[in-house]
Amino acid sequence: TQFCSCDANRETAEQTSHSVLLVFAKEDSQNNGFCWACEKANFRCNVARTPEAALECFKEKHHDLVIIDHRHSRYFDAESLCREVLLIYFYLNGFVDLFGVCCCRPDREEASVMPLIKSGFNRRYVENANMMACYNELLQLERGEVLAQFKLRACNAIFTALEQSQEAIEITNEDQVIQYVNPAYESIMGYQQGELIGKEITEVPKSEKNKPDLLETINSCIRKGKEWQGIYYAKKKNGDSVQQNVKITPVIGQGGKHKDRRKGSLDVRSTTSRGSDGSSQRRHSSMARIHSMTIEAPITKVINIINAAQESSPMPVAEALDRVLEILRTTELYSPQLGTKEEDPHTNDLVGGLMTDGLRRLSGNEYIFAAKQPHLPSHLAMPLSLNDIPPHVAQTMENEDSWDFDIFNLETACLKRPLTYLGLKIFSRFGVCEFLSCPEATLRSWLQGIEANYHSTNSYHNSSHAADVLHATAYFLCKERVKQSLEQIDEVAALIAATVHDVDHPGRTNSFLCNAGSELAILYNDTAVLESHHAALAFQITTRDDKCNIFRNMERNEYRTLRQAIIDMVLATEMTKHFEHVNKFVNSINKPLAALEENGSVKGILTSPDNRILVKRMLIKCADISNPCRPLELCIEWAGRISEEYFAQTDEEKRQSLPVVMPVFDRNTCSIPKSQISFIDYFITDMFDAWDAFADLPNLMQHLDNNFKYWKGLDERKLHSLRPPPE
Ligand SMILES: *[C@@H]1O[C@H](CO)[C@@H](O)[C@H](O)[C@H]1NC(C)=O
Ligand SMILES: *[C@@H]1O[C@H](CO)[C@@H](O)[C@H](O)[C@H]1NC(C)=O
Ligand SMILES: *[C@@H]1O[C@H](CO)[C@@H](O)[C@H](O)[C@H]1NC(C)=O
Repeated sequence: TQFCSCDANRETAEQTSHSVLLVFAKEDSQNNGFCWACEKANFRCNVARTPEAALECFKEKHHDLVIIDHRHSRYFDAESLCREVLLIYFYLNGFVDLFGVCCCRPDREEASVMPLIKSGFNRRYVENANMMACYNELLQLERGEVLAQFKLRACNAIFTALEQSQEAIEITNEDQVIQYVNPAYESIMGYQQGELIGKEITEVPKSEKNKPDLLETINSCIRKGKEWQGIYYAKKKNGDSVQQNVKITPVIGQGGKHKDRRKGSLDVRSTTSRGSDGSSQRRHSSMARIHSMTIEAPITKVINIINAAQESSPMPVAEALDRVLEILRTTELYSPQLGTKEEDPHTNDLVGGLMTDGLRRLSGNEYIFAAKQPHLPSHLAMPLSLNDIPPHVAQTMENEDSWDFDIFNLETACLKRPLTYLGLKIFSRFGVCEFLSCPEATLRSWLQGIEANYHSTNSYHNSSHAADVLHATAYFLCKERVKQSLEQIDEVAALIAATVHDVDHPGRTNSFLCNAGSELAILYNDTAVLESHHAALAFQITTRDDKCNIFRNMERNEYRTLRQAIIDMVLATEMTKHFEHVNKFVNSINKPLAALEENGSVKGILTSPDNRILVKRMLIKCADISNPCRPLELCIEWAGRISEEYFAQTDEEKRQSLPVVMPVFDRNTCSIPKSQISFIDYFITDMFDAWDAFADLPNLMQHLDNNFKYWKGLDERKLHSLRPPPE
């Protein structure tokens, strides 16, 4: 505003009233017609009767429009007055574009306008005192030439600003021919305007310090109509390279929303660097300082990297990256967004029941937790050692290294102690006692102690499930890829984690415990309630009594590592983090492995500490919910058990007037096939695809396929039960 109070913008121009100078020697109807028109158009109006008064007034107010009476040459010489006004105008504004209208007599209409144009008039108005004619003339002038003149004045102001700017500014046309550089540019770069204007940018020597592809990057950015900003080394005339913080803005011509209309566009380069004491320099360096003092979270780094990449990316990439940033800024990165409620209610209930902790809490419905004190090992007759396992039990475990091993045979043969027996056999196969330097008797007591704390009254989450997960874990540990990735301590951790992973499970979901305000939910702040409890209790049971402390002989650091791995795996079985674990596995392991051509660096991917953690989490997760990948008969049995446990929960919720977490699991209405289909669709398929891609499990995928078809078949026959009715 310091340079010009005018505005090229029409809306604003309309608000600022224009000013008109009328030079009429005598008041007559024409004079009055213009006066009235000015009033109606809301123009400020001055009237001068003599050339002297006109010049005086103009010097003071420099009007937007001067209308000079040319009808009576006996009063004054309109043409010379116009020239004088123009002269003043030129001194005031630096360029000649005053708006002079000459008012002439009708009989002069045929005469040439040339003399008038030469003296500086832009327009001739033939005498017409009709007020509407005067008004219309003013409006046309305003919308046409006055506006154009305002724009010119605004340009003038902007160029004045450019001249005064402390920042180096360079303007090129579309073909990169330099149109303008400002004085700051001249003094920073050491060139004179004249040496640069008209030259193509490519003709000006470049610094070699820039990356070779930088110019191409910049140009492709500009071509896309995007601004580029970054560090650029410019070469001064004297040959010195100077590092500059450069911003390059493509200027698209008026109405140039389309790229093909960019003819005559200008590129404005603004270089913000002016010696060492320039204020902009200071601003930048102080910003940098603030930045480096901040502790950046990895996600902040990621966002910064993407922002920087966006700067130099083609439009579609930049737009895609915008979308990426939007997603990255949300807090729940791994929770899939379920659509509307129209979705399958089975999926909704499973997700609601398994993936939320249900922070709703009703008062007065205290759920009494089933086992406050850990159970002591029962004094069932236990085998003294592996060799003492009764032959009929041993027989059921003969093929425990096969995926098709039938755990239910073991369950019936061993008086509900499948975990202890299978544990003894598997742990010995993996040399766990040797690794832990613990006597087999300790392991036996430990297994008994853990198994005793599984609730045999739960129809699903009893020690048979733990034994089943242990079996799957052991099976996965023998897969080639898994063996390449894990060390023995990881194997031991995985086997122990599988054994303890649901210990003291109350047969109710986390959501239920939270809703019921159970002691555990309160203890663990409604967060991973059960999984925290399983992990914590496992270590309590283990370390409380030397007789069953399998960790007693471990070296401290090794124990800590092992303990950490066990806790991590048990917590990974929590379903609220399901998609996080699966996605991390896919992104960090599956994708990099798939991208590898030769097998040279596979080892690096497989054995990095971070990836080993991801493998272990995925392993125990898959083992934990591998039921749909078991042979059909086993799969059906497990489906019956989990449904029964959920039904029992719904029954209790109704009895206690608690919110029903999974309404589809109502024993009166539930379609077990539908619930299995939803569970497989939502949780199983993607996870096992990823796990199969890693560990190579064609037999599991075949079972999964069969089982899915089985449930589909029942559902298509509108059957709700586990099995088709007998023929
Ligand atoms: C687990 O529950 C089932 C009933 O669903 C039962 O038949 C089985 O014996 C239980 N297993 C153990 C070890 O308690
Ligand atoms: C639960 O929250 C309280 C209060 O924030 C905190 O002091 C406590 O450590 C939390 N407990 C757990 C197990 O996270
Ligand atoms: C890749 O694997 C093949 C067989 O699995 C092996 O013969 C070859 O030496 C391996 N190449 C590298 C670079 O490790």
